Amino acid sequence: MSETLPFSWYVDGDLLRRERAAIFARSWQYAGRAALVSEPGSFLAVDAGGVPVVVTRDEAGTLRAFINVCRHRGAVLTDGCGRRSTIQCHYHAWTYGLDGALRTAPRSEREPGFDPAEWSLRPAGVGTWGPFLFVNPDADAVPLADHLGELPELLARDIDLDGLVFHSRVEFGADANWKVVVENFLECYHCPTAHPAFSADVDVHPDRYLLEPHPTFCAQFCRAKASGKRGQFHLLYPNTGINVFPGSPNLSIGPIAPAGPHRTERYLDYFFAPDVDETWLREFFDFDNQVGREDTALVESVQRGMASGVLEHGRLLLNSEPLLAAFQDWVREQLQGDEQRLA
Ligand code: FES
Ligand SMILES: [Fe+2]
Repeated sequence: MSETLPFSWYVDGDLLRRERAAIFARSWQYAGRAALVSEPGSFLAVDAGGVPVVVTRDEAGTLRAFINVCRHRGAVLTDGCGRRSTIQCHYHAWTYGLDGALRTAPRSEREPGFDPAEWSLRPAGVGTWGPFLFVNPDADAVPLADHLGELPELLARDIDLDGLVFHSRVEFGADANWKVVVENFLECYHCPTAHPAFSADVDVHPDRYLLEPHPTFCAQFCRAKASGKRGQFHLLYPNTGINVFPGSPNLSIGPIAPAGPHRTERYLDYFFAPDVDETWLREFFDFDNQVGREDTALVESVQRGMASGVLEHGRLLLNSEPLLAAFQDWVREQLQGDEQRLA
């Protein structure tokens, strides 16, 4: 559809509440590095688009995830990561095993009919893809591998995930709706105007910068002008961004998470080849930061324009912005599907 989503969908708190229920509460989302929960007894607390989730590796070695909310009166149970043998709530000390079972609840023996088996942590979905950890607040969701679809295969054309080592996490954000940020990531129509350095390095000609919608992700493929080396940029629905720039092996991955209708919080976990050259790395981060600053200015300007409320919607150029059309259709479908489930 060439008409964009209504601009009101980018500024409205009610719509964001619907998105949280229809999208974020039931979607696979990047949750950090699988290495953080590789040892029995380890845990990692994450935010999955507004839903607190805790991932554990229990003593038997099973990877599990739970909604990180106490079954007693709803306190968030834990944060950070590390090792522990139980999860004890800081409010009234209800204590859960890493398998989610309620082990003890002080004074519960004084309550006739209290059955701890009814008050285990609510399970969530968890899965790994190479070095990456994903969670889904909905334990009944399709397996992660089904959601990834062809993405691992496409990425493997240009990068060997097992040959990368973690370098660092960079946190940032923008005063814009999460969909504005996603959509800016889904086209390179703006590259010649807004990213002069990127467009000097990367061939952004519409015949050679390729955009491919897939059922669960949007793919972009490009080449460096000088070396011919290939790069890829992906959005795995709903909000995981993956970047592989042309050049020395590199990959960054992270969520584009709503923190309110007008605010998006992000981080990227950066991975490189173990022998990456320090000078190359400095130039890489300078380049990446510059593109990031340029994009932040763009999305914040879009948010101000949309929030002014004077225009109802915009007009997509379907040959240059097919991935925006695909993403916007996907968002519409998720919201409609949720309405049907509730009806
Ligand atoms: S809210 Fe967790 S023990 Fe009371
Ligand atoms: Fe951009």
